[in-house]
Amino acid sequence: MLQVRSRLWLPFTQMQSFDAAARTFVRGEGSMLVDARGNRVYDAVSSIWTIVHGHGHPALVEAIAAQAARLDHATTLGASNPVAEELAARLCELTGTDYAFFGGDGASAIEAALKMALQYWQQNGAPERTRFVRLVDSYHGDTAGAMSLSDIAVFKSRFGAVQFESIPFDDDEALRAPDVAAVIVEPIVQAAAGIRIVPHERYAALRDCAPLVIVDEIATGFGRTGTMFAFEQLALRPDIVCVGKGITGGILALSATLASERIFAAFLGAPEERKQFFHGHSFAGNPIACAAALASLRLFEREGTLARAAAIARRSAARLERLARHPRVRETRQAGTMIGIELREPGSGAAVASALYERGVFTRPIGETIQFVPPLSSSDAEVESFFDALEAVLA
Ligand SMILES: Cc1ncc(COP(=O)(O)O)c(C=O)c1O
Repeated sequence: MLQVRSRLWLPFTQMQSFDAAARTFVRGEGSMLVDARGNRVYDAVSSIWTIVHGHGHPALVEAIAAQAARLDHATTLGASNPVAEELAARLCELTGTDYAFFGGDGASAIEAALKMALQYWQQNGAPERTRFVRLVDSYHGDTAGAMSLSDIAVFKSRFGAVQFESIPFDDDEALRAPDVAAVIVEPIVQAAAGIRIVPHERYAALRDCAPLVIVDEIATGFGRTGTMFAFEQLALRPDIVCVGKGITGGILALSATLASERIFAAFLGAPEERKQFFHGHSFAGNPIACAAALASLRLFEREGTLARAAAIARRSAARLERLARHPRVRETRQAGTMIGIELREPGSGAAVASALYERGVFTRPIGETIQFVPPLSSSDAEVESFFDALEAVLA
């Protein structure tokens, strides 16, 4: 008989050794999470790259409550709502795309992007274009299609039966193959690979050679790398942009697959032509989530979120300079407020993260890499507290 401690089954977590008493969060306040024992810890990983303006921001709480009272949910299968309309327009304006297709989690935005690309080519005279090119060490989510575009062996090795093969972007020739539907890239940072930084030159060929470019901004979007979207720094003109995580300020499940007019136009026709996009999710365009997203975008302007992100990045860069010389540190990596500190000693990531928790800092290691991806509302003192705690633990 199993000794069941809880009915909750957590993602990417060995439940046999999980100690709910030690790691249960009951409250969020600004940059801090409060656990069931009453410890206040700095959410130094923004609850896995989601939280933007801190936990419990009154403007977001208010927007959610007001929208819930007005229209909580209505399907977008063959129907619209004004909040989804307004958000679609704002997202298109911000990304230079033309149409927004909503989903739930990041992975559902990726699935939609893949299927959009396939159906696009079928309806645009090149049905043989069915394969996808992706970066080495890529990660795009855990559903079957997104996993097929990912390159992190431990996440996907069990599930070969539901995967298709994707092509690593080793050289520009890969993009020129006549059966390629699209190339998908994480711009500038590969977060799940351990906050790896991709040199800007790597993206240059995409401008000329790729049949369609899908940019995955799910981790990098909404200010994390310094600009609203990381691809702005790469002079890329994506055909499709996927956003998620931080879109609602990082507090509700919402994602979007943003498409250019070229893509959208291929799906227009008389009903009997059956050219509409054959894909959808129950909560696509949920008004409460969309209201939170609109409120979050207003906060970017009202609170100068990008300027705060720049200040966090500068302060972190100064501390990283010193850390990079620490004998226990192999390498430090930074793109804006996405920071990885890779330790030398094999197996030390989990132990260092545990010790950080005891010092009031919550992060999740990726192998030997300690992540610092803080809420963009973090104060200078909070940023310093992360580096102080890490230096103390390493000492
Ligand atoms: C770059 C990237 N794409 C897609 C995803 C999948 O998003 P979600 O976990 O919301 O499904 C993630 C999640 O970490 C990600 O980092």
